[in-house]
This record gives sequence, C-alpha cells and structure tokens, in this order.
Amino acid sequence: MILVTGGAGFIGANFVLDWLAQCDEPVLNVDKLTYAGNLETLASLDGDQRHVFVQADICDRARIDALLAEYRPRAMVHFAAESHVDRSIHGPGEFVRTNVEGTFTLLEAARGYWSQLDGEARAGFRFLHVSTDEVYGSLAPDAPAFTETHPYEPNSPYSASKAASDHLVRAWHHTYGLPVVTTNCSNNYGPYQFPEKLIPLMIVNALAGKALPIYGDGMNVRDWLYVKDHCSAIRAALAQGRLGETYNVGGWNEMPNLDIVHTICAILDELRPRAEGSYTAQITYVKDRPGHDRRYAIDARKIERELGWRPAETFETGIRKTVQWYLDHAGWVGNVQSGAYREWVSRNYAARDAAA
Ligand code: NAD
Ligand code: TYD
Repeated sequence: MILVTGGAGFIGANFVLDWLAQCDEPVLNVDKLTYAGNLETLASLDGDQRHVFVQADICDRARIDALLAEYRPRAMVHFAAESHVDRSIHGPGEFVRTNVEGTFTLLEAARGYWSQLDGEARAGFRFLHVSTDEVYGSLAPDAPAFTETHPYEPNSPYSASKAASDHLVRAWHHTYGLPVVTTNCSNNYGPYQFPEKLIPLMIVNALAGKALPIYGDGMNVRDWLYVKDHCSAIRAALAQGRLGETYNVGGWNEMPNLDIVHTICAILDELRPRAEGSYTAQITYVKDRPGHDRRYAIDARKIERELGWRPAETFETGIRKTVQWYLDHAGWVGNVQSGAYREWVSRNYAARDAAA
C-alpha cells in the first residue's frame, strides 16, 4: 500500500479518489483533520477496504512510526500542510509547525523505516514531497518562467515554510540517501477546494450575491492547473521520477486574477443567470494582501521530457467543469460553510455503529 498524508484536503483527497479509481493498491490516509480536512469529500469510499483513514498529526513521531510498522507502505506521498497564504499572514506559527516540523518528523520516521527494509522493498521505497511554485518568489512581467534551478526566494510565511520543507527533503536525500522526489506545482483548482482560495471563493460568493473581493489591481498573475492533472503528475513522478530530483508542474496557463474572475462570471451568467445583469457587477476591489507576489509562471518542460507528463485539461475545459461541480454540489459547499463537515466523522461513525 501507499501512505498519503493530508488525504482529506483538497488535492490529497482528489489524489486518493483518482488513485483508487485507477488501481486496487490500498491507501493509508493520515490526516489531522484541521479546518481544511473534510472526510465528506471521501464519502464515496465508505466501506471500501482499500481506503484506511487514520486521524493523526504528522508531528506525532510515535504515531507515524507505529503506522509505518503496522502497515508497511511501499511509498509515502506527502500532501499534509497548512496551505493558505492569507492564513499564514495572520498566524504563521501553525505553518512552521506543520510544514517544517511535520515534514522533518515524517522524514525522520521514513528514514528509520526505510533503513530497516532490505532488497526490493528498500530499493523501491519512495518519499514523494508535494510542494509549490511559490517557493521561487515573484517574477517580473517579462522574466522567463520558473525552472527547477530557479533560486528559492519565498516571500510569505506559507512559501517560506514550504521552501524550508523542500530543503529538508533535499538534505535527507543527499545526507542519508533517502529516496525522495519533489514536485513544485502551480495554483490548483477543481472539485472539493475549500472556498477560501480564489476560484471556489468567487464561485460561492457570486452565487450567494456577495462581493467578489479582488486584491489590489487584480493584475497579479498565477499559473493555473486542474487538480486532476496535478494528481496524474504526482503519479508519474512517484512511478518514474529520478531520485533526489525536483519536477515543476504547471498548466501552461498564466492568467491575471481579474481574467479568472471575469471567466467565472461569464460561465455563471450562462449556466445560472442572475435576475438582472452580470455577476461582474459584484466585483469589488479591496486592500491588497501584504507582500503579494506579482507573478508566478512554471516551465514544465522537464517533467514532460523525462516523464512524458502534460496537462490533459485546458483552462477553458477545467474551469467549466469546476463551476459546474460547485453548482451541482451545493450540499458539500453548505456543509463547509456551516462547519457541519467537521461533525462528519462522528456522524459517519455513529451511522456505522447503528448499522453494526
Ligand atoms: P489543503 O489545505 O486543502 O489540505 C491540507 C490537508 O492537510 C488537510 O486535510 C489537513 O487536515 C491536513 N493537515 C494539516 N496539518 C496537518 C498535520 N499537522 N498533520 C496531518 N494532517 C494535516 O491543502 P491542498 O490545497 O490540498 O494542498 C496539499 C499540498 O499541495 C500542500 O502541501 C500544498 O503546499 C501543496 N500545493 C497546493 C497547491 C494549491 O494550489 N492548493 C499548489 C501547489 C502545491
Ligand atoms: P489564492 O487562491 O489564495 O492562492 P495563492 O495566494 O496561493 O496564489 O490566491 C490566488 C490569487 O488570487 C492571489 O494573487 C491572491 C488573489 N485573491 C484575491 O484577489 N481575492 C481573494 O479573495 C483571494 C482569496 C485571493
């Protein structure tokens, strides 16, 4: 089996769902269930023996050691993190704890476990670290996109904590020989994303008749990748990535925030028209995020050249699917907004007890 950390979050849960849709290799899903962890996303796996969920903190070394000893995974895919830049500005401590100390704890646990494996199990073991393009810092408008050799220049507490975790992963390979692969991906969007990030926030606010808050002048540029394409890139890196290497993952799709919001409004105008006029009327300019990076862009040629990976979705197809998904899943959104999803574990297990 494989061990996944953070598999109840946005990308981790999409990864687990995709993995089990494509193969029968079981997944041990280790997640602390912070505000960002939502087991309701994994409800379709209820009763599926291939999915083992364990609520645990990646900073808890004894717990991680015990899980490795009990389940003996052939690989660890590490998603668990605090992931929202705005939250990192208000409370950086949790970012240092989970992203730096948590990754350190996992690396040490992985090293202890891996060093006792032998033969094929030892040779085949992998630690795949899921990271972000934000570690590279901000690009000038005409600068070339980030390659894997771009200097690390993180600017937010979030990106600094992810950069620190990337350095630890690199060092555990160079010093101890731990078989690691790192992926640095651009902004993801798609089903099950917590509505604090730009795209789901705009969809949900638009439908609720609320303001669509644009930071600054709305001309900050990000590269956007449909989440299922990120999942396929991680699968490729896990299967064939060269040890100790990093792979940039991106959608070849740079867009200013304002264009993203206009695109969402246009799709909603078509699929769920307002009583009067366009959703663009709800666009509101608000105070900029402190230290707001101006531009990110990914050069994803290395992963294409070495692993044959390219995104399957264009932004046009991916954003349409995403808007449609949020329209079709008002219940999921409602539970996230009311906080009811946090009771999912007790409701879910209560139902099982009743059925038993
Ligand atoms: P998310 O915030 O939606 O989910 C994070 C998950 O980690 C949650 O389920 C949470 O409960 C869990 N978690 C947090 N702290 C934990 C701890 N101490 N122990 C165990 N579990 C813990 O994040 P996401 O958007 O799914 O991102 C997943 C990974 O991908 C992160 O490492 C992030 O840096 C990286 N990434 C995200 C994006 C993006 O656009 N969202 C882009 C590139 C890379
Ligand atoms: P976000 O989804 O928070 O991702 P990140 O900061 O990790 O790139 O934000 C994406 C972009 O959208 C970023 O430039 C900030 C901007 N933004 C807004 O303009 N308004 C918002 O309400 C949010 C959440 C983000």
